[in-house]
Amino acid sequence: MAMWDGRFKKELDERTNDFNSSIKIDKRFYKFDIKGSLAHAKMLCEQGIISSDDYNIIDENLNGILNDIENGKLEFDYTSEDIHMFIEGELTKRCGDVGKKLHTARSRNDQVTTDFRLYLKEESNNIIIKLKELIKVFCDLSLDNLDTIMPGYTHLQRAQPITFAHHLMAYSEMFLRDIERLNDSIKRINVSPLGSCALAGTSHNIDRFFTAKELGFDRPCNNSLDGVSDRDYVIEFNSNLSIIMVHLSRLCEELVMWCSWEFKFIELDDAFSTGSSIMPQKKNPDIPELIRGKSGRVFGNLFTLLSMMKGLPLSYNKDMQEDKETTFDSIDNTMICLDTLIPMLKTMTILKDNMLEASKKGFLNATDVADYLCRKGLPFRDAYKITGKIVAYSIDNNKCLNDLSIDEFNKFSSLFKDDIYKYIDLYECVKNRKSYGGPNPDLVKEHILKVLDLIKK
Ligand code: ARG
Repeated sequence: MAMWDGRFKKELDERTNDFNSSIKIDKRFYKFDIKGSLAHAKMLCEQGIISSDDYNIIDENLNGILNDIENGKLEFDYTSEDIHMFIEGELTKRCGDVGKKLHTARSRNDQVTTDFRLYLKEESNNIIIKLKELIKVFCDLSLDNLDTIMPGYTHLQRAQPITFAHHLMAYSEMFLRDIERLNDSIKRINVSPLGSCALAGTSHNIDRFFTAKELGFDRPCNNSLDGVSDRDYVIEFNSNLSIIMVHLSRLCEELVMWCSWEFKFIELDDAFSTGSSIMPQKKNPDIPELIRGKSGRVFGNLFTLLSMMKGLPLSYNKDMQEDKETTFDSIDNTMICLDTLIPMLKTMTILKDNMLEASKKGFLNATDVADYLCRKGLPFRDAYKITGKIVAYSIDNNKCLNDLSIDEFNKFSSLFKDDIYKYIDLYECVKNRKSYGGPNPDLVKEHILKVLDLIKK
């Protein structure tokens, strides 16, 4: 019999019940649902709405249910409408009429969003821990590659020399911002809707500040309608995950490229690569490809949520039940991507010689030639033009800038002296880029140490 059988003359159609039910999905909330109920019952007792005897019975039985679920002694009943009904029903089974008092001054509408907020707070912190682990890997790899010259690209064209450390630390900045975003969103997640009830609060003398505090929220929400209607925090959380996945997809795209014969900057460990069923020579970067692919799925989930919420009238609407499956899917997929990526990065081989060889071709030090002339007094635009001519000459003669004789240089400008060779040496080019945030190895090392310190907190 359904909870509302007083009003109804018929049981819900079986397939419709299945359609309407969310327990297969929201069973994930059981711990938070019970936590919320424990706080609610305690408040009801503090306020004299239920007796302390009743409270003790409810408290003991809710804890019993929690233990039994965790020890596998209590199985979820998939005919229940949702996790809230299941737990309340189980409580009533265990302690009869006393259990029926728990739902005083409460609705599933405030209950579900309380559970979701508690859950997302925990998951945000789990993701932050994982992101810190990932950043630590970037820092460790970077410390080993402060002097590893590699080509820096724009438009995927070789542009200027950088180091592998400098490149990786760019990613560490992105993931630090992701952590910052998650932490910032926690402020908005950490508000208690409990006591908003169905939509309009209650005439019972409840203490919403008490339950908010008991559950570790910063405060109760200010408007009961908003309390049950708001899913901004779910959308915001999903957009945070989407941005993380954008970053992962960019990194993974680079890993895929770097594994190719065209680049060969890295080699993934065999434990993180796959072969081909027909081509015996193949070693494929399936894992970074799959992470890149999964980003689309996480963005899709964000769009599902935005579309689902768009135009919904206040306050609660059943449409909103769809918010959980998408979010859980995004969390699971983001987590598994991070879990797989971290050991893959730790075990990959960095082919420093290939990175250096690639840096020698493509006139990566052309800007440095222009800067050299500029330092000798030429306006930058003139220096730029002369260097362009030198590059064109070198292409025609199949030479690198470092291969040109001083006579060849002097054909373009008499300002060139023997010190040009040191100035355009790739290591020197990198060392000379001491502007804040640049690839100079001492600067990058300082940056790494700062980041390592940051992620300890
Ligand atoms: N299972 C529901 C959900 O996830 C819980 C709230 C249901 N409230 C209601 N009035 N039907 O949204």
